Amino acid sequence: MSTSDHGFSTRAIHAGQEPDSRTGAVVPPIYQSSTFVQDGIGGFRDGYEYARSANPTRDSLQELLASLEGGTAAFSFASGLAAEDALLRSVLRPGSRVVMGNDVYGGTHRLVNRVWTPWGVTLETVEMTDLDAVRAAVRPGETDVLWVETPSNPLMKVSDVTALAEIGHAAGALVVVDNTFASPALQQPLALGADVVVHSTTKYIGGHSDVVGGAVVVRDDELAEKIGFVQFGAGAVSAPMEAWLTVRGIKTLAVRVERHSSNALAIARELEGHPAIERVFYPGLESHPGHELAARQMSAFGGMLSVSLTAGAATARRFAESTEIFQLAESLGGVESLIGYPTEMTHASVRGTELEVPDTVVRLSVGIEDVADLLADVRQALDRAQA
Ligand SMILES: Cc1ncc(COP(=O)(O)O)c(C=O)c1O
Repeated sequence: MSTSDHGFSTRAIHAGQEPDSRTGAVVPPIYQSSTFVQDGIGGFRDGYEYARSANPTRDSLQELLASLEGGTAAFSFASGLAAEDALLRSVLRPGSRVVMGNDVYGGTHRLVNRVWTPWGVTLETVEMTDLDAVRAAVRPGETDVLWVETPSNPLMKVSDVTALAEIGHAAGALVVVDNTFASPALQQPLALGADVVVHSTTKYIGGHSDVVGGAVVVRDDELAEKIGFVQFGAGAVSAPMEAWLTVRGIKTLAVRVERHSSNALAIARELEGHPAIERVFYPGLESHPGHELAARQMSAFGGMLSVSLTAGAATARRFAESTEIFQLAESLGGVESLIGYPTEMTHASVRGTELEVPDTVVRLSVGIEDVADLLADVRQALDRAQA
């Protein structure tokens, strides 16, 4: 079945998911095989030779991801950071320059700042919501990659992908958007003008906290060829079981993020009026500086929110340790609600840099449980944190 004319949810279930040709199995099997028999030397069946270069289960995930992001090619990796690294290996050279938002996942900043700079790459961070600041930072002809994360982790800043794509392209930069927080169900950066989308598929795309993975999606054939070569040549591919679990997760992505979004909005509204909360960072609130932009650029506001606590760091830490349904853990985007204290957890690596997250901030990944239970949990945890 050709799925290209179908809507998002139909593609999420069918793109790249042809029933098994031999048995008719509705769910394509997991090709848990590292190698493929050859009919004489070089006689590959369907092009399959060795699973680092290609495996049918990974191919089915890649076709699905390309369809959902509106790209021409997708590449699946063993983690989000492996995906980011493969992209950077494809486009950076000694002397290259990366301009990145000043609120991004700490590991992304660490990858460029600690892994790439020793190879002669320079990094500058900028307030990505300030277009004049970005214009000044990219310096035409001097920037190779403009790295945008929107909404950003953990302060939920919303950046204008269309405007940034124009600014980046005018300066000759490749415009990359980390779409992990929104997922393609809510935001499609390639349609907004970006060149590349990256994902930690560990998060909403997988959706069940049972698989680590990453992806790069592009719409340019030359770039696709370069990334495909690094995927094969450096080999940080996703394994068949991981690819299959990710495909299974994607089938419910659209309905999951709807529920994540409505639950998160309810919690954001409740917390906005709570005396223990100094500020709520959630683009679905009218008070959020990026609300109107997010309403234009996203179809809902997602399941992630952060709060800062009026009483300071000790109370913030206690709040993160006092919830019962929200589990204290790294990661996000799964069906179960999680809570984290970024400065000591996901963003510990950026302490002391310009990306340091205030120690009053707590991040919530709002799951798809009953909203009344989540609201009660947050209320009781705030009471305990302040006691
Ligand atoms: C926005 C974002 N991008 C990338 C990553 C890295 O992904 P992974 O942990 O799958 O390597 C994360 C991980 O938390 C993230 O939150």
